[in-house]
Amino acid sequence: MSRKPDLRVGMIGTGFMGKAHAFGFAAAPKVFDLGQDVVLDMVADVTEEAAAKAARAYGFERATTDWREIVADPAIDIVSITAPNALHKEMSLAAIAAGKHVYCEKPLAPLAVDAAEMTAEAEAAGVKTQVGFNYLCNPMLALAREMIAAGELGEILGYRGIHAEDYMADPASPFTFRHDPEGGGALADLGSHALATAEYLVGPISEVMGDCVTMIGTRSGRRVEVDDVGRAFLRFENGASGSIEGNWISTGRKMQHDFEVYGTKGALCFTQERLNELHHFDAGLPVGRQGFRRIEAGPANPPYGQFIAAAGHQIGFNDLKTIEVAGYIRAISGAEPEPFNFRAGLRIQTLVETIQASSRERFWRAI
Ligand SMILES: NC(=O)c1ccc[n+]([C@@H]2O[C@H](COP(=O)([O-])OP(=O)(O)OC[C@H]3O[C@@H](n4cnc5c(N)ncnc54)[C@H](O)[C@@H]3O)[C@@H](O)[C@H]2O)c1
Repeated sequence: MSRKPDLRVGMIGTGFMGKAHAFGFAAAPKVFDLGQDVVLDMVADVTEEAAAKAARAYGFERATTDWREIVADPAIDIVSITAPNALHKEMSLAAIAAGKHVYCEKPLAPLAVDAAEMTAEAEAAGVKTQVGFNYLCNPMLALAREMIAAGELGEILGYRGIHAEDYMADPASPFTFRHDPEGGGALADLGSHALATAEYLVGPISEVMGDCVTMIGTRSGRRVEVDDVGRAFLRFENGASGSIEGNWISTGRKMQHDFEVYGTKGALCFTQERLNELHHFDAGLPVGRQGFRRIEAGPANPPYGQFIAAAGHQIGFNDLKTIEVAGYIRAISGAEPEPFNFRAGLRIQTLVETIQASSRERFWRAI
């Protein structure tokens, strides 16, 4: 296969997700045969120290304190945005206007109206986009989706999803960008992942009934207006009913991105805390032999085998990001559709806002 020119990446933000993006871009061309290399070109952060440190640590050729330099540089093909949510719109629109492909972290924008503008601009410009819903890249989620679509669970009756962590459980933890009254909150931050997984597995949600609550009303002396817990009852287009929860005050929970799916012929359950396992209950087995069976990830569950040749050795969170990046690079080269583009990110933001509106009104709402 003839190799395509290198893709040059500019990354904005060097925190938690900045590191994960840098890891994904560095690993994807090594783990997958993409026919194309990636060059970590320029990285931006607010201080010279942070930008230079990230450039050294992650292998970027250049560092800057002005993200607009990345956007304006004709050498750069992809702009990767891992800055706080309130900056996603301005950075994405500037990058799109400069003809760059844009990989933006979730939530795509604090408000759906802004996510809609970003989506429209990206589609009009014909650039490829990606939003960071990395949990969907797990081979065990692909297997679950395949089993559901093949009818192995029969008719889907019920769904339960949750994304719970505890990084805001301490009332003394500070006010951050995640508390931004415009678009912050646990539902947008974590519930968005639970919603993406629910639709990935069961299909479109048609109606929601939300309950969003603030449990810790003041942080760093500032009033908190956003939810610490966002829950929703769901009705799916296919007739299934269910629920999701986004929760950042779940003391003791570090990564509970979990789901359970119940059908007339069987059930599935999964926890991200053991992300290489999927549990399947087959209701067709004789009573007395029934029970949840643990399916362990291995090379038969693509793309696990790209990472490790043997089952049971396990992939991790950064590998999910590598899978996400590989899918995005294939989309940029035209080999495949974008795995989770801005339009898909807009859909999740619309679900989040409809749940929030339903909670305020205390009524069911159609999507
Ligand atoms: N997909 C996931 O699983 C996942 C996980 C965590 C965070 N996120 C998302 O990633 C984004 C960042 O979250 P994080 O946890 O990495 O936050 P963080 O605070 O660790 O990192 C944010 C970085 O952006 C930098 N920054 C702020 N303003 C900037 C500017 N004007 N120019 C350049 N850099 C700037 C900060 O200095 C910091 O380095 C958020 O949108 C968040 O929702 C996604």
